[in-house]
Amino acid sequence: MSANREHFSSRLGFILAAAGSAVGIGNLVGFPVSATKNGGGAFLLTYALFVIFICLPVMMAEMAMGRKAQKDPYGSYKSLTQGDKKWSLAGAIAVLTPFMIAVFYMVITVWIFGYLVQTVLGNLDMLANPGHFDAFVNQYSMFIYMVFVGLIVNLILVGGVKEGIEKAAKFMMPALFVLLLGLVAYVLTLDNAMAGVRYYLVPDFSKMNASVLNGALSQSFFSLSLGMGILITYASYISKKDDIVGSSKMVAITDSLVAFIAGLMVLPAIFSFNPDTDPAKLSDSSVSMIFVYLPKLLLALQSDIGYFGASAVAALFFLLVFFAAITSLVSIIEVPTAALMEEKCISRKKALGLLALTTGGLTVLCTMSFGMVGWLTDFIDYGGASQSMFALISDVFYETILPFNGLLVCLFVMYRWKKHNLSEELAQGSPNYKGSFMEKYVNFSLSTFIPVILAVIFINTVTTKFF
Ligand code: PHE
Repeated sequence: MSANREHFSSRLGFILAAAGSAVGIGNLVGFPVSATKNGGGAFLLTYALFVIFICLPVMMAEMAMGRKAQKDPYGSYKSLTQGDKKWSLAGAIAVLTPFMIAVFYMVITVWIFGYLVQTVLGNLDMLANPGHFDAFVNQYSMFIYMVFVGLIVNLILVGGVKEGIEKAAKFMMPALFVLLLGLVAYVLTLDNAMAGVRYYLVPDFSKMNASVLNGALSQSFFSLSLGMGILITYASYISKKDDIVGSSKMVAITDSLVAFIAGLMVLPAIFSFNPDTDPAKLSDSSVSMIFVYLPKLLLALQSDIGYFGASAVAALFFLLVFFAAITSLVSIIEVPTAALMEEKCISRKKALGLLALTTGGLTVLCTMSFGMVGWLTDFIDYGGASQSMFALISDVFYETILPFNGLLVCLFVMYRWKKHNLSEELAQGSPNYKGSFMEKYVNFSLSTFIPVILAVIFINTVTTKFF
């Protein structure tokens, strides 16, 4: 272990930071929306199976790579292959992907921050106006919110691993749990809440089809922050004594639990708002759910608890999502930060400065691609329509390259770095791992069906999205 490399102060610090990365907008909104549209309990069950049987081994593989190499993803691929050019390319993609996804995630976090500020200022009624969201994303105030979000993320990251990332996670994650549980407890007292719970939990297997399965797998992959180099980077900050197998389970459980509980907040709220609702028809995306539907629903609470009460609940909700988004954003920007520091031998401050300029610049362009600037809005044609710069980045990096990176991780650990090295690394800190069923399962799945599934998803996305 290199003497001057920063490390998390404890295993708990690492787990909270990794869980902070995993718990994000995907859990709080994406998951409940997908579950609702795709068969409730049937989706929950499928999702749980995917987390356990597909995501967990990939997560362990990423962590093992990072801890073994004690480097950023680019450095990890390079050093574990003694400088093999082909695999260094995989490392480069593993750094470029989070860099670009950070842009896409930053845009959404800025909107959330804007909604938080507006609810605190007492403007919930304005947010609930039909058509407000489309106007909102084109306001110049977006750039002011962006500066604030950028400053918060930079302030955390400049503190480094222990003083920055870990401290932020140790504050924000417990706060997030308290907020979430408080909101769930409140929502469950609303009229018709139980109808929502029922809709959420009762399985409807008739909704299951190939595209739902594909969606569930992509959702779990994204939710656990896989394929983004994040877990490689975070695990490079833990010691050989740490138990990767146990920590991976903890992160996966925390992430899935938060997603599950978020459903107990969102669904009952929807049913209480409109008991005759068909949630499957509610909204086509998490974005319209958070920014269009939920403000309306939160405003409706005023008949119960007054405008001030409704605004307070809304503010707490957006604060919850904001905390979740910030810890994810921090984790994703740490990847290119670590890569710049290590590969270019520059200071953390310099790396963050460079990223503020580049990620920040791209975020500005993406923010302007919702109508503010014509050529950014109609940036490129593919899939039979003209697409914005934001859509391009989300389609290429989030939808397509993410599973591809997962595929590379599987192929790498199994066929280049080799099984016995992976086992060796995972057994450090988890003495019972060697010879266990878990070891056999991890080695079998990572070398056979997981890469096949990821390859199918990758090819399927490329052909359906772009051709
Ligand atoms: N896991 C996050 C979520 O569920 C996704 C994410 C993590 C996005 C890290 C960016 C960075 O929202």
